[in-house]
Amino acid sequence: MSKANLTFEDKKIELPVVVGSEGEEAFDISRLRSDSGIITLDPGYANTGSCTSDITFIDGEKGILRYRGYPIEQIAAQAEFTEVCYLLIFGHLPTREELAAFRQRLTSHTLLHEDMKKFFEGYPPTAHPMAILSSMVSSLSAYYVESDEEAIDLNIIRLIAKTPTIAAFSFKKTVGQPFIYPQNDLSYCGNFLHMMFAVPAEPYSVPPVLERALNMLLILHADHEQNCSTSTVRMVGSSQANLFASIGAGINALWGPLHGGANQRVIEMLQQIRQDGGDVAKYVRLAKDKDSSFRLMGFGHRVYKNFDPRAKILKQSADEVLAELGIEHDPLLDIARQLEQVALEDEYFVERRLYPNVDFYSGIIYRAMRIPTQMFTVMFALGRLPGWIAQWKEMRDDPHSRINRPRQVYTGEGERDFVPLADR
Ligand code: CMC
Repeated sequence: MSKANLTFEDKKIELPVVVGSEGEEAFDISRLRSDSGIITLDPGYANTGSCTSDITFIDGEKGILRYRGYPIEQIAAQAEFTEVCYLLIFGHLPTREELAAFRQRLTSHTLLHEDMKKFFEGYPPTAHPMAILSSMVSSLSAYYVESDEEAIDLNIIRLIAKTPTIAAFSFKKTVGQPFIYPQNDLSYCGNFLHMMFAVPAEPYSVPPVLERALNMLLILHADHEQNCSTSTVRMVGSSQANLFASIGAGINALWGPLHGGANQRVIEMLQQIRQDGGDVAKYVRLAKDKDSSFRLMGFGHRVYKNFDPRAKILKQSADEVLAELGIEHDPLLDIARQLEQVALEDEYFVERRLYPNVDFYSGIIYRAMRIPTQMFTVMFALGRLPGWIAQWKEMRDDPHSRINRPRQVYTGEGERDFVPLADR
């Protein structure tokens, strides 16, 4: 193993160099503080590897994304979402028997405990579905205790099976329609669409085009290594908090507009541009203006610096899905295309290597599928679920895992005497 040498004042510190399976190099600083008394400072963690992981590989410079070694382009074109769940969580592509057994287990756990339905009554109809989703997922821990390994295994199945039911119920709550129970003869995606769009008053059959589009969208979101929500899941899980509590925390982290919440904001931004007369250049100017807090939502990525491979797939699919759904013209898609064009030629965006990310085109497709805008981040969460579970499980199964506990450089007041209230 090669070593790096760090010299500071009279201290000479040797740092082992860890090399990943794709040749990525990292200085191992795990003994730095005990050997030298010094820590590292990396706000936003842009230079910090928090773990080693076998699950997902990203090369942001080359626009590469692979789940367990398989390129995202191949998986998105050929796999089914439940297969991807299996791959991410268990590390290999399932055989036919393994997949059939896995699907069977998922279908037999889609129902929610009837008492949980009462929780939905307590939310106002305006409640954001992400608020409901995170609370409901955390609440699953009140019903399904994590007593041993077998229970954890079953809870993983329960979580994947029940989250679409929770998500669809949260939507039905906001529109005041009766909950539609899961239907076990449908596929994972078909069942979700059925619970979302069926009403008891008339028959509903799942349009295959929607089922295919949803399958692809969920796959594209399924894992993305140590992003904000996944790191949150690992952070919370590192205290040995249970699976539901850890994933509930991840859902909340995803909600923010800089992360998964961006897909909702993209559509809102495109609508705003349209209502404002469609002057795309004006909004590009605004995004560059340092006195304005406006950002082009769906642009930029911490890791991807050339293109986001997921956005590339989605851009092409947006055209196909809209055509299949018979939508000849979507004014928001036109604005999105213009925005992309203007931004990609603009020096500000070129210099900073800001490109459309996965959230830029996913909203256009979800809109065409008649998924309401407020549900977009919930859709992201449904897709990211197997990734969070796989990362949580990997951390938990690692005998070297420790509680995550970063340090800080204190910059506040030095010691001073307390002033009693009467003297202030
Ligand atoms: N519009 C305008 N300027 C931007 C944008 C944007 N969307 N994104 C980054 N910049 C500028 C930023 O102002 C900064 O400029 P300067 O160097 O002059 O100060 C520079 O680019 C670097 O930005 P940063 O904020 O330091 O980059 P980051 O790596 O910390 O943030 C990001 C990454 C995705 C949060 C950010 O690009 C952003 O806010 N994008 C919009 C929100 C968005 O689309 N989020 C979804 C990300 S993909 C889905 C997911 O996995 O979460």
